[in-house]
Amino acid sequence: MADISWYQPNGKCLDGCSASDEKPISLYSLADVQLRFLCPEDLDEVRALCQDWFPIEYPFYWYEQITSTNSKFYSLAAIYNQQIIGLIVAKIKPYSNQIEDNEGILAKSLSDYDIAYILSLGVLKQYRRNGIASLLLDSFLKHLLMPERRKVKAVFLHVLTTNSAAILFYEQKKFRLHSFLPYYYSIKGKCKDGFMYVLYINDGHPPWTIYDYIKFMCGKVINGVGIFPWMFFRLNKMLHWVWKEQSRDLHEEH
Ligand SMILES: CC(C)(COP(=O)(O)OP(=O)(O)OC[C@H]1O[C@@H](n2cnc3c(N)ncnc32)[C@H](O)[C@@H]1OP(=O)(O)O)[C@@H](O)C(=O)NCCC(=O)NCCS
Repeated sequence: MADISWYQPNGKCLDGCSASDEKPISLYSLADVQLRFLCPEDLDEVRALCQDWFPIEYPFYWYEQITSTNSKFYSLAAIYNQQIIGLIVAKIKPYSNQIEDNEGILAKSLSDYDIAYILSLGVLKQYRRNGIASLLLDSFLKHLLMPERRKVKAVFLHVLTTNSAAILFYEQKKFRLHSFLPYYYSIKGKCKDGFMYVLYINDGHPPWTIYDYIKFMCGKVINGVGIFPWMFFRLNKMLHWVWKEQSRDLHEEH
């Protein structure tokens, strides 16, 4: 019985939701969707949306921080018909290999650089598969690819292993699975597994593995960079030596 929604003739569910709430809406064009940063007046709306989208409970101060006018977060909303239909909350921070959450994202040589973390990305149920999340993520990536943010070398996020929609979304956006995090989440008292996904930007790259070293060496051999000039130099020296030896023998014979 718990799975059945009972609808009244006025189109309202008995639990208060509207029957039309869940119907997917196809947008003809994304041109009518505006993007703007969150402001303090959005707090209640954003809180209601996040409580609907995410199984995690965020503290009230978190909503105050992400909607504050001088927020240290990148909190962007997609607006359609004066309503928030999607939002992304992200943060840029210095990379530190010592922090468990970031471990092994960047190569050691990049430890003085920055990374970006996506805390939340959600779209109102009926507006999903219209490209709204793509619009929000692309804006954030564009922001990170600006010359003044070249210090940001990777974007990462955590996702529940069971959240297939989000996993397919991020994989489609070229994010790559970085690690499996057993019992990463605690949801309503239960431990749930997570994945960490990473996208490298601005010439960022992960620590090198033995496989990368082999690939690098093979690439050098195939492209001939470094190896062929060295071989040419050695061959030239050898021929020179043979030529000198031969002319000395001839000289001695005469
Ligand atoms: C994940 C989420 C943000 C995607 O939002 P969206 O606006 O529907 O995403 P887009 O329309 O931009 O999707 C872009 C592409 O991602 C992939 N994708 C997105 N949702 C998908 C799904 N449910 N199943 C399969 N592929 C999906 C598709 O390739 C899609 O392209 P297509 O529609 O042309 O096939 C949305 O499902 C959501 O809000 N989920 C709940 C909150 C959440 O889990 N957030 C992620 C954790 S931070």
